[in-house]
Amino acid sequence: MVNGTFSRSASARLTPRSVGSPRVSAHRKWWVAPGPSFSFLAVIFCLASVLLVVGCVIYLYAFRYPSRGRLVAGFYDESDVCDVFDGSWVPDSSYPLYNGTECPFAERGFNCLANGRQDKNYLKWRWKPRHCDIPKFDVHEILRRLRGKRVVFVGDSMSRTQWESLICMLMTGVQDPKTVYEVNGNKISKTIRFLGVKFQTFNLSVEFFRSVFLVQQGLPPTNGPRRIHMTLKLDKMDEINQRWIDSDVLIFNSGHWWTPSKLFDVGCYFQVGGVLKLGKSISSAFRMALDTWATWVETMVNTNRTHVFFRTFEPSHWSGLNQKACEVTEQPLAVAKANDRSEFADILAEVVANMTVPVTVLNVTLMGASRSDAHIGTWSHPSSILDCSHWCLPGVPDAWNELVFSYLLTNGWKQIGR
Ligand SMILES: *[C@@H]1O[C@H](CO)[C@@H](O)[C@H](O)[C@H]1NC(C)=O
Ligand SMILES: *[C@@H]1O[C@H](CO)[C@@H](O)[C@H](O)[C@H]1NC(C)=O
Ligand SMILES: *[C@@H]1O[C@H](CO)[C@@H](O)[C@H](O)[C@H]1NC(C)=O
Ligand SMILES: *[C@@H]1O[C@H](CO)[C@@H](O)[C@H](O)[C@H]1NC(C)=O
Ligand SMILES: *[C@@H]1O[C@H](CO)[C@@H](O)[C@H](O)[C@H]1NC(C)=O
Repeated sequence: MVNGTFSRSASARLTPRSVGSPRVSAHRKWWVAPGPSFSFLAVIFCLASVLLVVGCVIYLYAFRYPSRGRLVAGFYDESDVCDVFDGSWVPDSSYPLYNGTECPFAERGFNCLANGRQDKNYLKWRWKPRHCDIPKFDVHEILRRLRGKRVVFVGDSMSRTQWESLICMLMTGVQDPKTVYEVNGNKISKTIRFLGVKFQTFNLSVEFFRSVFLVQQGLPPTNGPRRIHMTLKLDKMDEINQRWIDSDVLIFNSGHWWTPSKLFDVGCYFQVGGVLKLGKSISSAFRMALDTWATWVETMVNTNRTHVFFRTFEPSHWSGLNQKACEVTEQPLAVAKANDRSEFADILAEVVANMTVPVTVLNVTLMGASRSDAHIGTWSHPSSILDCSHWCLPGVPDAWNELVFSYLLTNGWKQIGR
C-alpha cells in the first residue's frame, strides 16, 4: 500500500459466478458419457470439485476477509481499485458530524461558528471519490474497533486540528463526556508538546505530539556564524520519537514550517552529521528529513501492529499581491485553486515508494484545493488575525479522518477484533 490508492487484493472477489456456473454446465456433458462406472466417477469428481470450491469460498469468507463484505460493501467499484483522493465535494445535509461548541476538544480558535461566522453552507459538504463511496463514519463500530488502542498524531498545528477533529467525531458515540479527558489535565495550546486524551470506557487513547519538522532541533555550533541561532539536524529524529512507537495508528504530517520565514529568517540552519549545510535548499532538506523518518519507520516501528500514515501538504488560500489577503468564500471553488506546494507531496510519494514497509499516503492536497470556503478567515480566537491556512472545525479535517477509518476498515483491520 503505497501511493495513496486504496486497493483490494485480487482474491477477494467472491461473487456467486466465480463458484462455477460455467464449469457446472461444462460438466453436464460428462453425465451423458457412455458406461455406468465412468459416469459414476464423473459424478464423484464433480461433487468433490464443487465441495472443494465451496470449502474455499467459506474459508475465504469466514476467516480471511470477514469485514470486507459485511461492513463496507460497495466501497470499491468494478475496476478493483479506487483512488479515494480523486473526487469532489458534494452537498450533504447530514453533515457536519458533530457540534464544535459541544465538543470540549475543538479549540475555540478553530470553532468558526462560535467566533461569529454566519454562513453555514461550508459545513454541508461530503467528500465523494470519483469511482466509489466512502462508508459513512459509524462511530459505534469505530469505537468498538478502537477499544484498548492508541492513536497517535505527530506533526504541526494541522495534525493538532485532525487530532481535535477525531476526538470530537468519537465523542458523539460516548454517553458521558466526563469519561473523556486529557491525561495531564492540560489545556490545548499552540506550543504544547504533548496532549493525550483518554476515552475511559473504551480504554482508548488519542494523542498529539507537536513535532513540526519531525527531525531534531539543536543548539548552534560554538564557532559558527552569528546569524545561526538554531540548527535542524536532518539526520536525527526528534528526541521524543520513542513515545510514538508503541501505537496502533500513527499519523504524521510536516511541511508548513519548511519555509524561509520559519527557518532562515529566525536563524535556523540545516545540519547533517554535525556539519552545517548553509547552502542546502529547503526542498532537498525536506527530502533528507523524510529519508531519516523513513529509515526510522523501517527500523523502529512494528508495522505488523502499527498502521502508519503520512498526510500530504494541506493547501492554503492566501491571495493578493504578497499572499497576505484572505478571502473566505461561501461556496467551494468550481475550479480548484490553491497555493499548494505540491512538490512536497511529490517528494513524499517518492520517499514512501522506496520504503520496505507499508505506509499509506493520505494525499489530501487536492481535496483541500477547492475549499476556499472552509478556512478560518477572520473567525479566529482571541484575536481576529487573518487565517487562510487552518480550517474551521467541524470541517475539512473530519474528511481526513473519515478516509483514515475507511482505509482501516477495508484494508487494515482484516481479522475480527483486530
Ligand atoms: C494525489 O492525488 C491526486 C488526485 O488523484 C493526483 O493527481 C496526485 O498525483 C496525487 N499525488 C500523490 C503524491 O500521490
Ligand atoms: C451547538 O450546540 C450549542 C450548545 O448546545 C447550540 O447553542 C448551537 O445551536 C449548536 N449549533 C448547531 C450548529 O447546531
Ligand atoms: C488498556 O489497553 C492497554 C493497551 O493499550 C492494555 O495494556 C491494558 O491492559 C488495557 N486495560 C484494560 C483495563 O483493559
Ligand atoms: C511481522 O510479520 C511478518 C510476517 O507475518 C513476520 O515475518 C515478522 O517477523 C513480523 N515482524 C515483527 C516485528 O513482529
Ligand atoms: C530508492 O532507493 C534506491 C536505493 O537505495 C536509491 O538508489 C534511489 O535513488 C531511491 N529512489 C528515490 C526516489 O528515493
